[in-house]
Amino acid sequence: MRIADIQDDIDHELVSKEQIEAKIKDIAARVSDDYRDKDPLVIAVLKGAVNTVVAFTQALSIPVQMDFMSLSSYGSGTESSGTITVRQDLSTDVRGRHILIAEDIVDSGRTLAWLVEELKRRGAASVEIFALLEKPARREVEVDVKYKGFEIPDEFVVGFGLDYDERYRNLDSIAVLKPSVYQGDEA
Ligand code: IMP
Ligand code: MG
Repeated sequence: MRIADIQDDIDHELVSKEQIEAKIKDIAARVSDDYRDKDPLVIAVLKGAVNTVVAFTQALSIPVQMDFMSLSSYGSGTESSGTITVRQDLSTDVRGRHILIAEDIVDSGRTLAWLVEELKRRGAASVEIFALLEKPARREVEVDVKYKGFEIPDEFVVGFGLDYDERYRNLDSIAVLKPSVYQGDEA
């Protein structure tokens, strides 16, 4: 199988690499101030939030602890399954910790709402969220996102960690794929 360059599969870009960098820098400065005395634990949900958490934590001016969790809410398609299961758990005890969740995108909000409750149930002292992207039109569950990146329209996006069928996570911007990419899948 020979595949095209990643740029050839993009229909249009929604958020550029430069816009992402500037926004993350901004939010990281606020977070560094807000958490200076809190010894925060930054948690990222694999795999989508990996690019976001790396860029975000490197932009922080304070040292932080990081941990990862793998949850499943989407299959290989573009619709949420509605059920959340833990594939891989944290290795850190969150009791008494100030948690900052770094997320790629808030879509229905189900994943985050579940995670916030779970961390509180485990005894976290506080739980706040940084989400690079939000799709307000798709929200089904109330989640309080303290640090907001970009609001985007109700379109399926890829890049900066977000995938379509496990590909395109390595795109350095946020973009919408050409319809032909999905059609190729059904053939
Ligand atoms: P939720 O619907 O808010 O629970 O979103 C769950 C997860 O689905 C997100 O953390 C993303 O990993 C993934 N997701 C949501 N919208 C998109 C999208 O437009 N492209 C790729 N992945 C998405
Ligand atoms: Mg995610």
